[in-house]
Amino acid sequence: MNELLPRQAKVLKVEEQTPIEKLLQLDVNLNHRPGQFLEVSVAGVGEAPISICSSPTRKPLEVCVRRVGRVTAALHRLSPGAKVGIRGPYGNGFPMEAMKGSDLILISGGLGMAPLRGVLQYALDHRKDYGELSLLYGIRDYTLMLFKDEIMKLMDSKECRVYLSYEKEDEVCKNLKKKHPECVCEGVVTKLFGMVDLNPEAYAVVCGPPVMYRFVFKELMDRNFPPERIYMTMERRMKCGIGKCRHCVVGAGTSMRYVCKDGPVFTGVDALQIKGLIG
Ligand SMILES: Cc1cc2nc3c(=O)[nH]c(=O)nc-3n(C[C@H](O)[C@H](O)[C@H](O)COP(=O)(O)OP(=O)(O)OC[C@H]3O[C@@H](n4cnc5c(N)ncnc54)[C@H](O)[C@@H]3O)c2cc1C
Ligand code: FES
Repeated sequence: MNELLPRQAKVLKVEEQTPIEKLLQLDVNLNHRPGQFLEVSVAGVGEAPISICSSPTRKPLEVCVRRVGRVTAALHRLSPGAKVGIRGPYGNGFPMEAMKGSDLILISGGLGMAPLRGVLQYALDHRKDYGELSLLYGIRDYTLMLFKDEIMKLMDSKECRVYLSYEKEDEVCKNLKKKHPECVCEGVVTKLFGMVDLNPEAYAVVCGPPVMYRFVFKELMDRNFPPERIYMTMERRMKCGIGKCRHCVVGAGTSMRYVCKDGPVFTGVDALQIKGLIG
């Protein structure tokens, strides 16, 4: 069987999340792990790696697509009933089993919330298996916040502590800060560390824009957070998604890794050993 041959999946629903991001529900049954990704293709246009943003405990499977170029724009033009090609799930995903029994601190910026939503849903659906759940989420402004209803509901619940930072103040953010001054602030996501008690026996799960990793990693290390308890999911240009084309290689020599098959989830120890992994 040709591993690079996609199979078809029907689009069940398309929902606008922000002016640049859409959520697509796909009619496909996969036994994936949170943090894994699919190669999603549109006939005659091309293929792109996209994280699965729902937990295997929730159906249907969902992906959240930011429109940046050819393939993602074609995905945005699809309507329910359309067909896409999919390959995968690929990559290692987050070690949800190994993290059982511990507190989880999810740290995300912008579109990084997409893969972390799968982790969040999984932990909520296995609530007794994990300790305290905290979500630190950095957004540019409320318009660009993903999964607004779900996160707002969580903010008022006791299931997960939600901390929110925003870079540009709008009416909604201003009111949120007034209502929850202990967990909402203006600034970048690292500013939220000042509001959180970091339990060094927790696991930190991180996903965001490339520039975020270096600062979040430094913040965690400065607070003596053990690097082996930090999991970060990385993006690199990919083609095959299965360790054949070398497009996604990072590091060199014994520290060389394929982001598509050795990752996309790496630990803080990897970040210290693999040159260029977090910039
Ligand atoms: C493991 C993994 C998971 C991903 N998960 C998601 C996801 O959940 N949702 C989502 O919207 N996107 C995700 N991406 C990014 C997505 O794959 C790219 O945005 C997509 O491939 C762009 O394809 P395009 O044809 O639309 O853009 P192109 O027409 O190929 O490029 C448009 C612009 O985007 C830039 N670009 C293209 N690919 C990347 C990339 N990988 N990183 C940074 N810049 C890029 C190009 O330089 C160009 O400026 C993920 C990438 C990886 C590797
Ligand atoms: S994308 Fe081909 S080797 Fe990783």
